[in-house]
Amino acid sequence: MLIEKQTELYSGKAKTVYMTNDPTRLILYFRDDTSAFDGRKIEQFTRKGEINNKFNAFIMEKLAAIGIPTHLERLLSAQESLVKRLKMFPIECVVRNIATGSLCRRLGVQEGMDLNPPVFEFFLKNDALHDPMINEYHIRTFHWAPIDQVEQMKEYTFRINDVLKQLFLEANLLLVDYKLEFGDFQGQLVLGDEFTLDGCRLWDVETRKKLDKDRFRQGLGGLIEAYEEVAQRLGASL
Ligand code: C5P
Repeated sequence: MLIEKQTELYSGKAKTVYMTNDPTRLILYFRDDTSAFDGRKIEQFTRKGEINNKFNAFIMEKLAAIGIPTHLERLLSAQESLVKRLKMFPIECVVRNIATGSLCRRLGVQEGMDLNPPVFEFFLKNDALHDPMINEYHIRTFHWAPIDQVEQMKEYTFRINDVLKQLFLEANLLLVDYKLEFGDFQGQLVLGDEFTLDGCRLWDVETRKKLDKDRFRQGLGGLIEAYEEVAQRLGASL
């Protein structure tokens, strides 16, 4: 079927989602917007949408190759991808290999400490409540996701950690932490949303230079240059 873009379904902080003539498929449009602090800091960067769209496809293809079901069907254009339409669960799965960010703020643990075993956390997707941390009892009681799919989310998220930690290490990068979102597609758990440098932290192995969205959050500058450097080190074509 020839895919046609139809009306806008919703607009997030960095992506706009469109319906298509196929009710089981959506189009993601990666905008040039970058936001932080629940959308209180927003800025546009030329090429950002294209870099994120292509980087996301590069990572999603790696994950599909190791048997993780993902929503990505194919790239459609520089800033657009065709994806399966999932019923998204309102939760975020975060894995941390090195302590930083909200973990240090919440628990007072030392920044930069190796986390062994890695820490897994769930957060509720709710801007008004600032995405609070939740646990599996909340997910069960409030029916945010079926419990068997919660088990599978954890399993996929850790398998993804093993594979991506290694992939990034080969590019001399430390995968510090990252966030994933899953949904249901016809009864199957599927990885949705995106894996980009907006939703993970990557540090250079030797210098620990930050090469992710923390450059924007912390006003360090050189955001696009950092994203391009990561893609180049991985051999991902942008
Ligand atoms: O802020 P925090 O330290 O909890 O973030 C952990 C990881 O999850 C980081 O890689 C961050 O980029 C990602 N994250 C995200 N979207 C959120 C919250 C966190 O991509 N809403």
